[in-house]
Amino acid sequence: MSKKDIYMLGIETSCDETAAAVVKNGTEIVSNVVASQIESHKRFGGVVPEIASRHHVEQITVVLEEALEKSNCAWDDIDAIAVTEGPGLVGALLIGVNAAKALAFAKGKPLVGVHHIAGHIYANRLEREFEFPLIALIVSGGHTELVYMKEHGIYEVIGQTRDDAAGEAYDKVARMLKLPYPGGPQIDRLAAKGQESIDFPRAWLEDDSYDFSFSGLKSAVINTIHNAKQRGVELSPEDIAASFQASVVEVLTTKTVRAAKEYGAKQVIVAGGVAANSGLRQSLEREFAQLDVPLLIPPLSLCTDNAAMIAAAGTISFEKGKRSGMDLNANPGLELI
Ligand code: KG4
Ligand code: ZN
Repeated sequence: MSKKDIYMLGIETSCDETAAAVVKNGTEIVSNVVASQIESHKRFGGVVPEIASRHHVEQITVVLEEALEKSNCAWDDIDAIAVTEGPGLVGALLIGVNAAKALAFAKGKPLVGVHHIAGHIYANRLEREFEFPLIALIVSGGHTELVYMKEHGIYEVIGQTRDDAAGEAYDKVARMLKLPYPGGPQIDRLAAKGQESIDFPRAWLEDDSYDFSFSGLKSAVINTIHNAKQRGVELSPEDIAASFQASVVEVLTTKTVRAAKEYGAKQVIVAGGVAANSGLRQSLEREFAQLDVPLLIPPLSLCTDNAAMIAAAGTISFEKGKRSGMDLNANPGLELI
């Protein structure tokens, strides 16, 4: 007898995207709807938590209805509901968690709380099956983490940022260059046209550390821009972007390669918004091709926040028997374990 298919409804509201999706067996997208709020936050130069919460309230039912309609699933077909419980903005998370709880209660469906980073990792499983052990590099606006996984659903964080996240550094440097939010794609675009003419620092930290630090680099960029201004020297924004990106990419690539070798990774996974970065993609592709280790980077639409990734990660937890109760709460500081 073949195993029954699992249809998971996923909900994600941890930051500035209101998203719902239906995923089959943790691997196949049936529907995937994302309502982005970027336009509303742009004029403030970053995500404003209160505005994010209000948008989520307005969008959540619309997005859920659209995801269900596009999936052609009836409620009877849905096996469970997965929702991001943390980390993220508490007011934003609460909207998704409460929507999921209300639906689970009203429709009599099991509820599964999901860690946002587990979601980013599992975005890759919508493209290709995992092989263990694997190393995952998560680089987003709020996270920079290296995670070792020896099997599905078990995460060991081997390194993380001690200050700014990689995406946060991108956004702050972009702001200095007076580029619109989100700054990552803007810097990426400029970097491709510039020369790596400025020698910005690389924070390697202790020899054996897989941790990261980007605040020193960010300060170095800011100081360089200020000093040039005071001396009346024109620096090319393209060259600043290229030099900054070279530092970020070199550190991320070197530490990921070292981790993959040390842990005997059969696969390396990249996830989160900064996984869209063309410099990082090229550098990782080159290194892992040489090492003959398969590298998975999700397509752009799955790099940034979405609910298909939450449904995918939730399916693994569901299969392992994890169930959340009606006391499930938003947890902005949730640990990945
Ligand atoms: O994963 P994500 O959508 O949201 C969080 O969970 O944080 O990541 C958003 C981050 C932003 O900081 C954005 O500037 C960055 O990803 N980002 C990029 C690129 N595209 C998005 N950073 C560098 N290069 C890019 N092409
Ligand atoms: Zn994210």
